[in-house]
Order: sequence, then C-alpha cells, then structure tokens
Amino acid sequence: MDDHWALLATVDDIPIGEMRSYLMDGGVVAVANVNAAFYAFADKCEHMGVALSDGALENDVVVCTLHKWRYCLRTAALEHPKPGKPFTTFPVKIEGRNIWVRRWPKTVYERQGTR
Ligand code: FES
Repeated sequence: MDDHWALLATVDDIPIGEMRSYLMDGGVVAVANVNAAFYAFADKCEHMGVALSDGALENDVVVCTLHKWRYCLRTAALEHPKPGKPFTTFPVKIEGRNIWVRRWPKTVYERQGTR
C-alpha cells in the first residue's frame, strides 16, 4: 500500500452496527460498519463539532448525539436538517482483514458515484 492510504483498523475491530474513531494525519476519522460495509467520515458534526462516533448508527445513517442531525453514509449527504448537503467522507479499501482509509476526502466526482 502506498502513502496515500492509512491502515486504521481491521474488520474485527468494528462490530456490525458500530463506529470507532481513529487519529489520521492530525484529524479524527470515524469508521462505521454497516452490515459489513465500511464507511469512513470526519468524526465531527457540522453543527457544533461534537464527535459523530458518540452518536447512534441507524442502518446507514449516523445520528448526532446532541441535536440529532442525520448523516447518510451511503449518499455522503445530510438527511436532516439540510437534506442533500454533502459532508466529509473518505474512500475505504479492505485488503485481507485490514481497513485502509485514503488520506484525503472524497472528491465531488467520487461523491456522485456514491448515490
Ligand atoms: S452538535 Fe451535532 S447536531 Fe448539534
């Protein structure tokens, strides 16, 4: 693996329906396991900055613990209160049992492929 990707966890570290947070390049990235599909995103609510990984994972939606903003991991966009507004997500690769996260967020073009 080249320097563009960070090894953050193994698939055994994050049970289905749960999230974990990791340091990556000075920031905090959360990784969620949605039915064995892994999603990485900035672990910071766009409202007041609390850790999204402290919230709830409802299927593929992260619900912030404080004021219940809803972040859809499948579409990489808010569901509530600003439907369609993108939030910061990162590409994920699984190699063997390792979870690799790219060191820079998805581009607009990559986001369109998530819909
Ligand atoms: S801090 Fe997350 S919804 Fe307000």
